[in-house]
Amino acid sequence: MTGELSPIDKAKFVAAKRAADYVEDGMRVGLGTGSTAAWLVRCLGEQVRDAGLRFKGVPTSTRTADLAREVGIEVISLDEAKWLDVTIDGADEFDGDLNLIKGGGGALLQEKIVATASDQMVVIADIGKEVEHLGAFPLPIEVIPFGWQTTQALVEETLISMDVLGRQSSLRMNGDHPFVTDEGNYIMDLHLQRIGNPRQLSLVINQMPGVVENGLFIDICDAVVIGYGDGRVEVRDINEGTVEQERLDFLETDNLFTDLAD
Ligand code: A5P
Repeated sequence: MTGELSPIDKAKFVAAKRAADYVEDGMRVGLGTGSTAAWLVRCLGEQVRDAGLRFKGVPTSTRTADLAREVGIEVISLDEAKWLDVTIDGADEFDGDLNLIKGGGGALLQEKIVATASDQMVVIADIGKEVEHLGAFPLPIEVIPFGWQTTQALVEETLISMDVLGRQSSLRMNGDHPFVTDEGNYIMDLHLQRIGNPRQLSLVINQMPGVVENGLFIDICDAVVIGYGDGRVEVRDINEGTVEQERLDFLETDNLFTDLAD
């Protein structure tokens, strides 16, 4: 491994590296799921090992829990933590109000529970995740397996009266079988193209029997750390109304790069 990463991986890395600064000794921290969140977990693991950082992590999936333990982070359950100082997670899309689509990795249910139980949610993303309107990325909804086709029909019928451009849906598959979440449920992806009123859509979808949760995160995210392939990072804090930019030095992180890309 040469340490050479693609621009998109560099963007994810610098966002994660910068977001690791939110974590301080003694904190309880929600750890997101996905490729960007995996960079964060690695960065935090390095700080635990090399800088003596001490915090407790609450993972949002079995994947993240396994990685966190592997890199030396102390893992506890949400019930043990009860409340978190900060959750740092990736996103599939974010808009100007920092509303999100999440769940591309199928962990939206735990992700939403953990983020909602946090003083602060920080999203880490490459600039390609920013959109003017949510919805180009298919909206994942978690449904219980019982009667899922009936739930799908109900969802598609309900979408007729919603402010969306598309109404098709598909059951997420894992090879020949439905993808199964950590909670034993299925994921249905809604191909909406453009969501005119995310708040309304989220409320309506969650009222349907059979639906457990949807991947719209409305008024949950407090700040986004956006990474660029050339090492620039932009931090937008919606509560403070601030935008800060800086550039991270890749050379300092050569060892971590090598670890991560293997
Ligand atoms: C996991 O279920 C998702 O919500 C992820 O946070 C989201 O898909 C972003 O993943 P990447 O960081 O891999 O793009």
